[in-house]
Amino acid sequence: MTIILDILSVNIWTAVFIILTILYFIYYRKFRIFIYDQPEKVTKGKIRRGKCPPSYPNGWFWLIDSYNLAQGDVKFIQNCGRDVVLFRGYNGKPYVLEAYCAHIGGNLGVGGKVRDINCIECPFHGWIYDGETGTCVFPDGENKVLRKLDTFEYVDVERCTPCTSDNQTSTSYLQKIADQQEITLKTYECREMNGSIFVWFHANEQLRHKPLYELFDITDEIQKNNMEVRGESINYINCHIQEIPENGSDVRHFDYLHESVLDSISFVKFKWKVLAERAITPNMRDLMAHSHPKAHAYKMHLFNKFLTEDNLQYINIIALDCSLCFLNKYEIFLFNTTGFQIGPSIVYLFLWSPYFKLTFFHTLTPLEKFHQRVVHRIITSKWMPYWLSASMLMGEVKQLYADMKIWNNKIFTEKLNYNLKSYADKCLHSYRNWYAQFYDGCYEREAKSLSW
Ligand code: FES
Ligand SMILES: [Fe+2]
Repeated sequence: MTIILDILSVNIWTAVFIILTILYFIYYRKFRIFIYDQPEKVTKGKIRRGKCPPSYPNGWFWLIDSYNLAQGDVKFIQNCGRDVVLFRGYNGKPYVLEAYCAHIGGNLGVGGKVRDINCIECPFHGWIYDGETGTCVFPDGENKVLRKLDTFEYVDVERCTPCTSDNQTSTSYLQKIADQQEITLKTYECREMNGSIFVWFHANEQLRHKPLYELFDITDEIQKNNMEVRGESINYINCHIQEIPENGSDVRHFDYLHESVLDSISFVKFKWKVLAERAITPNMRDLMAHSHPKAHAYKMHLFNKFLTEDNLQYINIIALDCSLCFLNKYEIFLFNTTGFQIGPSIVYLFLWSPYFKLTFFHTLTPLEKFHQRVVHRIITSKWMPYWLSASMLMGEVKQLYADMKIWNNKIFTEKLNYNLKSYADKCLHSYRNWYAQFYDGCYEREAKSLSW
């Protein structure tokens, strides 16, 4: 009898050990950094869109997660209607240059190598470009020697018309347009913060190195509130870029698309109260005041921390109160969100709740016309169990899918009908006028670049 009990107790402890090991791996492996990558990859569709604003507005755009670009890594990136090479120098800095070599067009992003700390070498014939300046150089540590070259161009490449004014003896199709000149590729401003690398794209060449605003560095905010990154969702959407951030200022659609907590439960619903104002509105802080003193204090702290005289024009603010409503009768307050939409493609959402703190960081990248990549990153209080932060991210993905069904099938309406007596339509009207500032010069640029 004693032997049987001994065997049983050994087996029970073995089973407990195995179960705990499995749970530990599921818990850490699956939920510690939880990534949801949309399985069905939507690509550019053939759906009618109506007349639209340009596809690639001006602003900061997310390029890559920092951990995906080690020193010496080189990437070819195509989005926002540009082809660029992104690489990290051996000094740790990321660099963005136009992708094609000035010699005869080799792609620096495919097979290019990082040389001499911060230079990139073309894979075709080994010409080297300084990441800082874009100039073609013979590298030699600090003393880079500029490479000088003659420049030729086809008179009329599409028809291959020969040169007429050239005094060459045999027929020539290429005319010399410059003698022994420095060769420079376009460089782009980039920033690395909060685990991501961003690039500044502007249609106006004069503003290529003069960003009109800066992104928020939320490192302090994360550390002070004892929070950490817990994962991200990656989704692909077929629509014009503006449709997606417009959602935050569309205060009415929450009642139609975002009521459901779980598909299988109908007696519990989300209730939303949403406000949207441009940051530059003179009494914005009064309009955004919150009745809960702690939520209000957090909101004002965020305004004081992130809003400056210089960035107000480029920011739209949203505020959401979310409650759980039981049987259409009893409400429990869940959280208040203060959202900053900065520029055409970046959104920071700071949630305050009596129970937890949470931040969502959204980025939007137009891969091509009507094809958007949307990433939502979740940052939560460290004490929060991993499975809970993963569920919260999936809760947000559920809400995003409700929007995606609309976005993937709607047109961008050029002619709108608003009831400006209603707060909801006033917000939409104000949002569209605010967003239009990011299209300056984009139409002309896009028309030129799409001519091929
Ligand atoms: S094409 Fe780049 S070096 Fe020749
Ligand atoms: Fe929505």
